[in-house]
Amino acid sequence: MSRGQPRGRSPGAPARTVKGRKPSSTRWLARQLTDPYVAEARRRGYRSRAAFKLIEIDHRCGVLSPGKRVVDLGAAPGGWTQVAVERVRPGSAEGGRVVAMDVTAMEPVPGAEILRHDVCAADAHELLKRALDGSADVLLSDMAPPFTGHHPTDHLRVVALVEVALGLADKVLAPGGVFVAKALEGGAGRELIAELKRRFGKVRNVKPRASRKESAETYIVATGFRGGAAA
Ligand SMILES: C[S@@+](CC[C@H](N)C(=O)[O-])C[C@H]1O[C@@H](n2cnc3c(N)ncnc32)[C@H](O)[C@@H]1O
Repeated sequence: MSRGQPRGRSPGAPARTVKGRKPSSTRWLARQLTDPYVAEARRRGYRSRAAFKLIEIDHRCGVLSPGKRVVDLGAAPGGWTQVAVERVRPGSAEGGRVVAMDVTAMEPVPGAEILRHDVCAADAHELLKRALDGSADVLLSDMAPPFTGHHPTDHLRVVALVEVALGLADKVLAPGGVFVAKALEGGAGRELIAELKRRFGKVRNVKPRASRKESAETYIVATGFRGGAAA
């Protein structure tokens, strides 16, 4: 260990600052403390600031309404699930339904069925269809891989998750259905966009204001599903 280097820090590892935090987590904490969406999420009882991304996507594209049957992939900690439940009203006369899936455990959301499962697992579509008791009108994916900071790698991983979500859409989405998936700007891949255009009537990109400006995150919103195995 070189002189002056904190104990336990391996060569090349980021320096730690006040209270032993890495610079990246210090930046995250500072952002959390000043971010208006974090404060608003707390005030309105949403579990994540991500809730406002879905609220804006819905405002701009009209994807959720009472009675819709929704699948929410990569749902934890549950902000999108909360918004979906508010808008499709499971248990009401309209008969909406929300099924959320994540590999990570999440607290129950009243009105939603939560499945702790890997979306990439071969039986994911069966679990979803069983929980929906039929097909879905809307398939949401806010799935994100663990980011490495190496952009080409992160883009490939995000595209892979969009492809998995699209494969599930083929099996669970009803004709006319809506597909929303987190992507990275310039990263969705030409082939994937072409595939989406073949399967949906309209495909657009939405960058909600709650999506941090410095982030390449964007959302694909595809409407008018032409039908897959669920048709
Ligand atoms: C950005 S968070 C989702 C935030 C959520 N939409 C909200 O509003 O609170 C991304 C989630 O994707 C999940 N995820 C990533 N890969 C997954 C996979 N293969 N199967 C299931 N969930 C996955 C992660 O566990 C993580 O909880």
